[in-house]
Amino acid sequence: MSTAIALHAPIEAASRAARSAPAADAARADAMEATLRALVDAVPTATLLFDADQQVRYANPAARVLARLCAPDKADRPLAVVGDWHPELLNSGALHLCSMHGSWSGEVILGVGRGQHKILLLHLSRVGADLFGMTVRDITQDSMRESELHARNAELEVAYAKLQGAQEQVMQSEKLASIGQLAAGVAHEINNPIGYVNSNLSTLQRYISQLFSAIQSYEAALAGGAGATEAESIRRKLDLDFLVGDVPQLLSESREGIDRVCKIVRDLKDFARKERSEDWIKADIHRGLDSTLNIIWNELKYKAQIVKTFGELPPVECLPSELNQVFMNVLMNAGQAIRDQGIITVTTSVAGERVRVDIGDDGEGIPPDVLPRVFDPFFTTKPVGSGTGLGLAISYGIVSKHHGTIEVSSTPGQGTLLRIELPIAQPR
Ligand SMILES: Nc1ncnc2c1ncn2[C@@H]1O[C@H](COP(=O)(O)OP(=O)(O)OP(=O)(O)O)[C@@H](O)[C@H]1O
Ligand SMILES: [Mg+2]
Repeated sequence: MSTAIALHAPIEAASRAARSAPAADAARADAMEATLRALVDAVPTATLLFDADQQVRYANPAARVLARLCAPDKADRPLAVVGDWHPELLNSGALHLCSMHGSWSGEVILGVGRGQHKILLLHLSRVGADLFGMTVRDITQDSMRESELHARNAELEVAYAKLQGAQEQVMQSEKLASIGQLAAGVAHEINNPIGYVNSNLSTLQRYISQLFSAIQSYEAALAGGAGATEAESIRRKLDLDFLVGDVPQLLSESREGIDRVCKIVRDLKDFARKERSEDWIKADIHRGLDSTLNIIWNELKYKAQIVKTFGELPPVECLPSELNQVFMNVLMNAGQAIRDQGIITVTTSVAGERVRVDIGDDGEGIPPDVLPRVFDPFFTTKPVGSGTGLGLAISYGIVSKHHGTIEVSSTPGQGTLLRIELPIAQPR
């Protein structure tokens, strides 16, 4: 306040023309100087003026505090020379650069006793032929805070990487756990064809020994000069007509059985494969749905009829085995929601730049208060031990990674629809 008055009072006085012009100018300059001095005295940044011999011409209160801080043992002596404040405060190189370029800025670190140090931000400027101005800001706290922030940031980055690794592990173990759960069903699916391939092989073994003995009998009959009647009787005795019809049939049935086993093993391998994040490929969504249905068929076949309505889909850029995991989780939920007998619909279509996979069931449905929570990790309404509540949470994560959406709608008592939409091409 007093500063403002000091500035205006002489001006008003001048306007009353009570003084001569030079005297008024001098008064104005004095007022201005007083104002500026008051201003510089009030700033919390150490500010000083010194000459080429480093003799201090002016130091604001903050600079005097700094001087005491730099040289606590010289507190009783006037610190008239900047060089006496601290040997490292002002080096000749900085002064030289300031003289050459008009200004210089930089950080200096000063030891201030008892193992302590201060980090100061210096700004030097040449303010006259033989005069330098200097401002000094103590940035020790800021620097400490900054390096603490850097350290925290590094810690956070490490924690984030660990978390990502852990999440991937959870996903992988969830996948393996579901495969474990399905193992019995898959074993059954494999056992069935293996069973009849095995029985066919025993029959074929018997047929082949019959054929060999027929060949031997023919050879003996031919050597003894036997006629057509004898050959016919051998033919009937060994039932060669039946053999001729049955052998190819057994062989093709066995081939088909082996194909089924190979397919299920391939589906299982597709499913269990651990993809790396760079394994994005353009894949056939229908193949993924089919192989997933094959793998979980044993879980569904007694309860549900599957109605597939597949549209024309282009290849979709995706991580196929991760999408299979989504299909499995949703299909398993659909199966689990059907109490006795029901229908699961799997419908695919294209919607603009996206493909859509709708998986519906006519099971028990989801009450409105449960609906907003189904994607929450560990949320389950299933009895302890039978659901971890991770199926939809993991599916949500996988679909989001594909820049897609997964939505649920449901009418209690009527059924549920899960709609998955995936972009055909990933955004670049
Ligand atoms: N098709 C559906 N019909 C009825 N309820 C469903 C359906 N899908 C999901 N839910 C509900 O959402 C909950 C969460 O599903 P989510 O798949 O995440 O876990 P879960 O099936 O309980 O356990 P997990 O999949 O880990 O074995 C289920 O417990 C169930 O209440
Ligand atoms: Mg589930």
